Amino acid sequence: MQYENQAVTKIYAGSDHAGFALRGRLVAHLRSRGRQVEDLGPPTDGSSDYPTWAAAVARAVRDDAGSFGLVVCGTGLGVCIAANKVRGVRAVDAWNLEGARQSRGHNDANVLCLGARLVAEADAIAIVDAWLETPFEGGRHARRVALIAAIESEETRQESQQDSP
Ligand code: RB5
Repeated sequence: MQYENQAVTKIYAGSDHAGFALRGRLVAHLRSRGRQVEDLGPPTDGSSDYPTWAAAVARAVRDDAGSFGLVVCGTGLGVCIAANKVRGVRAVDAWNLEGARQSRGHNDANVLCLGARLVAEADAIAIVDAWLETPFEGGRHARRVALIAAIESEETRQESQQDSP
């Protein structure tokens, strides 16, 4: 089956140990549906720190225009906080289908975070599918997303002012 939202060119996936099993199932699901997925790891379910994997996925998305990210930890919260530290990333922890859809339609979210300990596998699959199939609506939402980018720029400007003697 081909998805409607063909603007999605590639999906980068990652997790910590808590999200390891669900990440594997989501990657397999997406590939079985014809999606191009690059699984960034980790390769085993040994204990690992969620910011490391969230940053790897977020930076891959930042560096590959049009790509999306999928990161899984126990709650989806830690990876979401970490991923949002990367410029240009709009990561969301969507708990249900409507949240997933609106995060794409209104916020142009480019990284989806999920909590393996809080969301059932079948629900997670449905959330990922809905998220990927929903296009950004643009219009007034584009102005608001641009205002998010403006916050990043202003933070950088203020930081560079503080650094200069
Ligand atoms: C790991 O135990 C857990 O803290 C992590 O997966 C995540 O839920 C953090 O936000």
